[in-house]
Amino acid sequence: MSTTIAIDGPSGSGKSTVSKEVARRNGLAYLDTGAMYRAATWWVLDQRIDPADEDAVIAAVREMPLTVPVDPDDQVILCAGHDITDAIRTPELSRVVSRVSSYFPVRDILIALQRDIIAAEGEPDSYSHGRGIVAEGRDITTVVKPDADLRVLLTASEEARLARRAKELVGTVDAVTIEKTRGIVSERDRQDSAVTQFLEAADGVFTIDSSTMSISDVVETIENLAGRVT
Ligand code: DC
Repeated sequence: MSTTIAIDGPSGSGKSTVSKEVARRNGLAYLDTGAMYRAATWWVLDQRIDPADEDAVIAAVREMPLTVPVDPDDQVILCAGHDITDAIRTPELSRVVSRVSSYFPVRDILIALQRDIIAAEGEPDSYSHGRGIVAEGRDITTVVKPDADLRVLLTASEEARLARRAKELVGTVDAVTIEKTRGIVSERDRQDSAVTQFLEAADGVFTIDSSTMSISDVVETIENLAGRVT
C-alpha cells in the first residue's frame, strides 16, 4: 500500500531535515516543493526576466525544463542541463522567490507537477516501488494533497527558527547574526503567509512544535502518527 505524508511549516522549522529522514528510514520518496519554487525563480532570473513582470514569469515557468529529484540522498536539481542545486539557495535568490511564488498561475503549474510526482510514487515502477512519498512545503496539507494519509504542520518558536537559520546561513548563532537573520526570515514569512496558510494547522492536521525536540524525536513522532493513520 502506498503512503503519502504531507509536511508543511515555516523556514527554520526543520521540515527538510525531518522529511528526508522520515523518507530515508521508511523507503519513501521525498519531494521538496520549496526547491521547485526556487528552481522556477532561478529559471526566471537566468532568462533575464523581470520578476515583477507576471505574464513573462508565468510564460517562462510554463516552459521550464526542470528535473525534480525524489531520492532523499540525491537532491541534485537540474534545469536545462544546469546543475542548480547550490544556485537556488543563495540569499539573492531567496529574496526573489516569494515574489515568483505569489503568482497563482505559477503555483497552478507547480502544483500540477507536484501532484503528478506524488501520484507516480504510488506505482510499482517508481523510485519508492509504490511505497509512497513524503512531500514538504507550505501548502501540501491544505492544497496539494489535503487527502494525504498523514498531514503534519511542523512549527518552532521564533527563537529556535532564527537560531537554526543563522547556523544554516552563516554557520554561527551569536546575537548579531541572529538579529541579521531576524529581518530576512520574518520578511519572507510575512510575504509567504500572504499566499499560503502555513502558520496554523488546518482541520485534521497534526501540529508538532519542534522547538525543544531533537530531529530524531520529531522523526519518531511522525512515524508513530503515520503508524496510527495508515
Ligand atoms: O522551503 P523553502 O524556503 O525552500 O521555500 C522557498 C520558497 O518557496 C518560500 O519562500 C515559499 C515558497 N513555497 C511555496 O510558496 N509553496 C510551497 N509549497 C513551498 C515553498
